[in-house]
Amino acid sequence: MKTLFTDLDRAELARLGIDKGFDVIVGPEEVEPSRSCVGCFGCWTKTPGTCVLRDGLQRLGETLARTDELQVVSRCAYGGYSRTVKAIIDRCIPYVHPCFRMLGGEMHHRLRYDRTIRLRVCLYGPSTAAERETLSVIAGANACNLGMRLEDVWFPAGPEGVLERESAPCASDAPRVRPSAAAASDGLVLVNASPKGERSATKILLSELSDALLEKGDTVTGTVSCPRPGMGAGDEVARAGRVVIGYPLYVDALPSNLVDWLDRAELEPGTLVYALSNLGFYESEQIAPSFSVLENFCAARGLVWGGGLMVGAGGMIVPTSDRPAGSLFRRHLAPGIGRLATAVVSREDAGCIACEPVIPRFAYRLMAERRWRSLCARSGADIDARPTAE
Ligand SMILES: Cc1cc2nc3c(=O)[nH]c(=O)nc-3n(C[C@H](O)[C@H](O)[C@H](O)COP(=O)(O)O)c2cc1C
Repeated sequence: MKTLFTDLDRAELARLGIDKGFDVIVGPEEVEPSRSCVGCFGCWTKTPGTCVLRDGLQRLGETLARTDELQVVSRCAYGGYSRTVKAIIDRCIPYVHPCFRMLGGEMHHRLRYDRTIRLRVCLYGPSTAAERETLSVIAGANACNLGMRLEDVWFPAGPEGVLERESAPCASDAPRVRPSAAAASDGLVLVNASPKGERSATKILLSELSDALLEKGDTVTGTVSCPRPGMGAGDEVARAGRVVIGYPLYVDALPSNLVDWLDRAELEPGTLVYALSNLGFYESEQIAPSFSVLENFCAARGLVWGGGLMVGAGGMIVPTSDRPAGSLFRRHLAPGIGRLATAVVSREDAGCIACEPVIPRFAYRLMAERRWRSLCARSGADIDARPTAE
């Protein structure tokens, strides 16, 4: 079966003759009335293999379980997928198993189905060399995480070139703005882009950053939460000289609600942008490609990319948040947060700060897998279920 994930609507697909040859198309008509992933993991612990949100994207795991070839056609969004396509991809996690396997020395998810899908990715619209490099890395990571084989990546100038499978010449790279050209405003806004909002690891990390900033004599002038697409960017963001964007890694990239927020946020040129991201896997470096998307975003908008903090083993953050800061599970956080706070206060480049736990990887894996199994047992669900749509 051939499946298409796209942000082009059916009329546009028909006009371009792209609709022919696909058995299943998932596009704006399915995404607009549906919700974006809320990060509840019900698709792993309550109804394994099927999302718990009852809408047009509920059965994407089963769609992939029947797919031989997946083509992703998306507008280029700073070297990542557009909000519509990312919303589809985020809702695909029922396809994988919550437990882990090791690939190339890194943690990845076990596969729920015995299947290798051929993956072809087309990012249309103007794209710079840096954006193409970013997308190629993200598509490779997606293929690895979802057990797919990446066969093709191409970058046509517009939707008309989708069928030709040829890349247009690169758009010229926007010059990187240096911290010395940063906006003069003293404002400092923290953005919580976790779909879990107040109950997220991101929220905890941002409040620890806020405390560290206060200790260094700086104050946060505003906080913004954008757990759902379409939420206002916040006026204080437009006026802030510095913004720290907190988010969880979703399918190797930014969550769709953050892609949406970036599209709509009106940041003043020269604003310094930092990131504070966490992920479920142990290795914080898996966050790096999503930092490249933010760096490309800054270049395109005349903002200053200030780097950020990448936190591994994010699954431990909420369950251990009541333990003392010096405990085994939490003592790796303060030094990383301290380094990010120092960069933010002094308006310097933080680089990519990697923050990995003190406990070894095998212990984290054991704890996480035990937790997934006990959550499944509690809801009477079969963790290994392989639903297939008729
Ligand atoms: C849709 C979805 C996709 C995810 N993709 C990844 C991923 O690619 N790599 C990873 O390590 N963790 C992934 N995770 C796990 C989250 O990054 C992890 O649970 C994180 O701690 C959530 O942070 P938060 O509480 O701030 O939202 C994903 C989670 C969800 C819900």
